[in-house]
Amino acid sequence: MATRRAVITAVSHYAPPDVYTNAHFESYMDTTDEWIQTRTGIKERRFAKADVATSDLALPAAQDCIAQRGIDKSEIGCIIFATVTPDYMFPATACVLQHKLGIPNAWGFDLSAACSGFLYALETARRIVESDGAKFVLVCGADKMTTIINPNERATAILFGDAGAAVLVEGVENTDVGIIDSVLQVDGAGGQALYMPAGGSVMPPSHETVEKNLHYAHQDGQAVFKSAVTRMSEVCAQIMERNNLTGDDIRWLAPHQANLRIIGATAQRMGIDISKVMINIERYGNTTAATIPMCLSEWQKAGKINYGDNVILAAFGGGFTWGSMYMKWGIK
Ligand code: UT7
Repeated sequence: MATRRAVITAVSHYAPPDVYTNAHFESYMDTTDEWIQTRTGIKERRFAKADVATSDLALPAAQDCIAQRGIDKSEIGCIIFATVTPDYMFPATACVLQHKLGIPNAWGFDLSAACSGFLYALETARRIVESDGAKFVLVCGADKMTTIINPNERATAILFGDAGAAVLVEGVENTDVGIIDSVLQVDGAGGQALYMPAGGSVMPPSHETVEKNLHYAHQDGQAVFKSAVTRMSEVCAQIMERNNLTGDDIRWLAPHQANLRIIGATAQRMGIDISKVMINIERYGNTTAATIPMCLSEWQKAGKINYGDNVILAAFGGGFTWGSMYMKWGIK
């Protein structure tokens, strides 16, 4: 058993200021506030301005994490940036952010796991600090989804928003709090149910790919919905069982925020009352890699999550990628 645990010791988020309510979509496409709220739970979302990059969405959150923990930037040994909307194909957004933050001694990389990105990044950071590869790892989850969503396709345009969040993962000796267990999976068979067809090596950018809107995210909503409910609750049940947890033992479930109905179904299958589920989808929509750390940050700022609380994180997204993580909250 590891004597050194990975603990989240700072968390923060940034949501761009411009709010777009469902009325925005009603004004130019065939949809209604009623449809959007009933099917998804979303009332409004934030869209970043044109000159804001994904790294800019993570930057204020990362700065705030460093200030909260009161460390010198040189103590951060690694930056992991979860995103599907990187600033560039390369260099990695982690490198852009390192430069903007002026972190002197870190290595880092981007991690592409769509809506499960933050969970995957957290697990990677956990392994790094547990094996003494770094004292602090900066983990960011940020996406400027407006750069890959077709504003005229009603099935996807209404779902997503832009945001960024960050946590500091710290290696702490002999502690009862921190990350205890995780179950993560991929299944590439579901790849084309949620993906961006063009822009990569399979279909490099061309006039034709742009004309055919192939640089936008495409989703088979129902297929993703069904897999999300089944697979997210499967891994949550697995993690609860092997850690001897019942619904009553769990203080908070922090699920990916893609659809209120998916969140509700997952909580129900886990035997967790909905009052113990972090939900902010109504204000931000689906911000992909940012949703889970945004929840953690908002709950921390509101004083609703306490040191030692049992928390389960759960995500499902493009890939397919999915997973669940069990931790005891480690910020006092
Ligand atoms: O975060 C990554 C993972 N992503 C997810 O987990 C998303 C999973 N999927 C979903 O959340 C849901 O499938 C959606 C919210 C995307 C769609 O909800 P749905 O209940 O599955 O609707 P649907 O796709 O079956 O569409 C039902 C109807 C269709 O019309 P017809 O064919 O029945 O006439 C759609 O054309 O709703 C129509 N529709 C809309 N109507 C009004 C689709 N989008 C809209 C819209 N406004 N914005």
